[in-house]
Amino acid sequence: MKVEEIDVNRQIGRIGEILNAREKKRGILIQALQQIQAALGYLPEESVQELSKKLNLSMSEIFSVASFYRMFYFKPRGKKILKVCLGTACYVRGSKNVLNALEQEFNIKSGETTEDLALTLETVGCVGCCGLAPVTTMNENVMGEITGSGKLKAIIQSIRE
Ligand code: FES
Repeated sequence: MKVEEIDVNRQIGRIGEILNAREKKRGILIQALQQIQAALGYLPEESVQELSKKLNLSMSEIFSVASFYRMFYFKPRGKKILKVCLGTACYVRGSKNVLNALEQEFNIKSGETTEDLALTLETVGCVGCCGLAPVTTMNENVMGEITGSGKLKAIIQSIRE
């Protein structure tokens, strides 16, 4: 969704009847940020500026709300988002080695994205599949038992495709 398509009154719904104009705008801020990110993959500064004008909220107000939530990103993200679980079970079964191998293979650190935007590498706490440790997720698909080099090679290959 483009910023100009955001309709404060329509999106706020009936609750808007008891809110003043400023409260309404703040009320749809997160939803608007989610829509921008869903469309563009992250929150480009130009879009945040447009939203700032549209909602008459300062840039710092918008950034302070957006940066509170881990779900918002201010830089472009990779086509593939690979998360290595560093929860206790995965860590004990070698997930740090998996992370190190991926960092070395793609020449990025955890939290970074490759220049070609093919991969964003991140770490995550327990994803609830401890029996499959060590676990990674790729765009929300869980891959477990990354214990041998075969599975790691398959992951690397799928990123390079
Ligand atoms: S610790 Fe990794 S899935 Fe639970």
